[in-house]
Amino acid sequence: MKQVHVSASREYDILIGSGLIKNAGGLIKNVSSARKCLIVSDDNVYPVYGEAVLSRLTGSGMTVFSHVVPHGESSKNADCYFSILEKLAVLNFTRSDCVIALCGGVVGDLAGFAAATYMRGIDIIQMPTTLLAAVDASVGGKTAINLKQGKNLVGCFCQPKAVIIDTDTLSSLPEKEYLNGCAEIIKYGMIADSELLKSIMSSPVKDNYEDIIFRCVDIKRGFVENDEHDTGCRMLLNFGHTLGHAFEKLSSYTLPHGFAVAIGMAYITRSAYRQGLCGKDTSDTLTNALDKYRLPRFIDYPAEDIARAALIDKKADGSLINLIVPTMPGKCEIKKIPSSELSNWVKAGEAND
Ligand SMILES: NC(=O)c1ccc[n+]([C@@H]2O[C@H](COP(=O)([O-])OP(=O)(O)OC[C@H]3O[C@@H](n4cnc5c(N)ncnc54)[C@H](O)[C@@H]3O)[C@@H](O)[C@H]2O)c1
Ligand SMILES: [Zn+2]
Repeated sequence: MKQVHVSASREYDILIGSGLIKNAGGLIKNVSSARKCLIVSDDNVYPVYGEAVLSRLTGSGMTVFSHVVPHGESSKNADCYFSILEKLAVLNFTRSDCVIALCGGVVGDLAGFAAATYMRGIDIIQMPTTLLAAVDASVGGKTAINLKQGKNLVGCFCQPKAVIIDTDTLSSLPEKEYLNGCAEIIKYGMIADSELLKSIMSSPVKDNYEDIIFRCVDIKRGFVENDEHDTGCRMLLNFGHTLGHAFEKLSSYTLPHGFAVAIGMAYITRSAYRQGLCGKDTSDTLTNALDKYRLPRFIDYPAEDIARAALIDKKADGSLINLIVPTMPGKCEIKKIPSSELSNWVKAGEAND
């Protein structure tokens, strides 16, 4: 088992290893004195892993309830959010009880927001079961639900009490979800760790889950500790996301998030190379990694449409936007560009060099 300690507005540990669900009772008792807990999960994950977690917690003396929402992004809505709050209220949960999010990032964000706001905040323990949630969503304390006007428009920062990543759960992930997570891992490599890129080129991520997740989570820890509320260096984690969010929108959310981020990273990197902001080695390193993980690098939307869709994203900031631009493998910087220049950036990233 590997462990990462986070010192943000709350201190907590992230545990990563095989078979951690079997010790869930003891691991949760170590960090929480809650006598009651609510496991929130979705209808794909709960039937496979729910009972195992529930029986371990019951075995350690806790009174355990469960709440299952339909799988998919559409569950990150106000109805599901209120259904969790009302369940907590009906079950007389108090501020000394806790919520456990056992699932991917959708439930992590939804249950995280419910826990952060029920009675002004009760403890949440994240138990991510997707690769994307393990390396990204479960760590750092961002919680949210969506409005019909856009994603993640309602939420708050609230750090979990612990993050428990049982790498065995990743064995049941569909290939598409595995590759989604791999795109975020490539992102970590590009922004902060060229050695990570080398290691995922020499052996597949799935052969080294514990080590790779540890490295990603440790990178995120550094950004969260230095910039918990995402106004400075934490923005580097958005590499590929400004355009990625635009591609998701233009595809009416049929394009998976990781695939959209992969294309976003590819456009910005090709564009940066053409503008002399990084060398060919940077562009080649990203291309090779995306190809190895069968992630796309191009998409067929006009540059103006892409820029327009990107600029209605919440990260657009007046007339300037923050673009995360690679300077070499393992290093990116935040570049403020006028929003009017974004479509030229996209155009420059359209073609192979
Ligand atoms: N809070 C943050 O910092 C943060 C960061 C990144 C992403 N997110 C959010 O995370 C969400 C995406 O998360 P996700 O990619 O985990 O999606 P998800 O939660 O929808 O999970 C993807 C699919 O995999 C299934 N699944 C989950 N675990 C499984 C397992 N072990 N075996 C088989 N199937 C499994 C789920 O039922 C679902 O159908 C988005 O809403 C995004 O906004 C949040
Ligand atoms: Zn992402």
